Amino acid sequence: MIAAATETSAGAASAIVGRTVHVKVPATSANLGPGFDTLGLALARYDELEVSATDAATHQIEVHGVGEGEVPLDESHLVVRSVAHTFARAGVPMPSLRLVAHNSIPHGRGLGSSGAAIVAGVMAATGLLEGIVEFTPDELLEIATELEGHPDNVAPALFGGLTIAWVTPDGPRHKKLIVHRGVSPLVLVPEHEMSTALARSLQPESVPHSDAVFNVSRSALLVAALIQSPELLLQATEDKLHQRYRAEAMPETDRLIRALRAAGHPAVVSGAGPSILVLASDPSERADAVRLVEESAETAWQALPLAVDFKGATVTPVVDAPH
Ligand code: HSE
Repeated sequence: MIAAATETSAGAASAIVGRTVHVKVPATSANLGPGFDTLGLALARYDELEVSATDAATHQIEVHGVGEGEVPLDESHLVVRSVAHTFARAGVPMPSLRLVAHNSIPHGRGLGSSGAAIVAGVMAATGLLEGIVEFTPDELLEIATELEGHPDNVAPALFGGLTIAWVTPDGPRHKKLIVHRGVSPLVLVPEHEMSTALARSLQPESVPHSDAVFNVSRSALLVAALIQSPELLLQATEDKLHQRYRAEAMPETDRLIRALRAAGHPAVVSGAGPSILVLASDPSERADAVRLVEESAETAWQALPLAVDFKGATVTPVVDAPH
């Protein structure tokens, strides 16, 4: 962290009032089959927010789109908590916020909505603190991971592309990779939600050594398949560490993944579910997968063909037009 030497924390806080930033954060899919808590992919569907620092007595929060009428509109709002956490890490008192969110990332479906909210707060705070405190990319990942618990959604939300995230004694780290241009993600979103906490509670404390070896081989292969050899994606997305244990909590997801994989499509649970991610090798395979879902699914699924987002979260200052 770099802090401007001349600013006192009270001086910094008053310099921030009046600033407004625009933040855009992509959806993400974590795990990608074998890469449990490690691999993540940023997808071109976004939450966008405008965040201003004000001298009002309380926060003013508006939410449009996904979560409208459902999420809290006070300091317990996840974006506000994340801004507060980032200001605390910067050692600068947090101002009141005016926050207007336009959300399109589905909630509770395994598409990284909570990671996106956390990253939105971290990015909004860094934009409001511009010129006063600067965080390194590792610090941004660390701050976001402190709130999310694991780095596999927040890393691609912050940095875009395909990310490998790992945890060291000095905090989480990431490596960003550029996905092969043929890879054509398809996200299938069911109507019901799934709690990540419930999904994590279904995981066993330990797994057979042979299953660990199985996943080591598949996740190493998956990185090669995603950046170089999409024809290997079906084998590379096999997993024995998490999906089988969670299947009972999302039987429709499990059945549809089996049907897609039996037809040759690399389908996996997206994050903790219940959405499905199909990592098709090209757009025509993706269209085939959509047809299979339309013909065979027992329940309603929204099919979202999404590009890979290569940029990650962005924050830009909003400058008032001259009157
Ligand atoms: N790796 C996480 C899990 C992603 O599967 O539990 C969801 O937050």
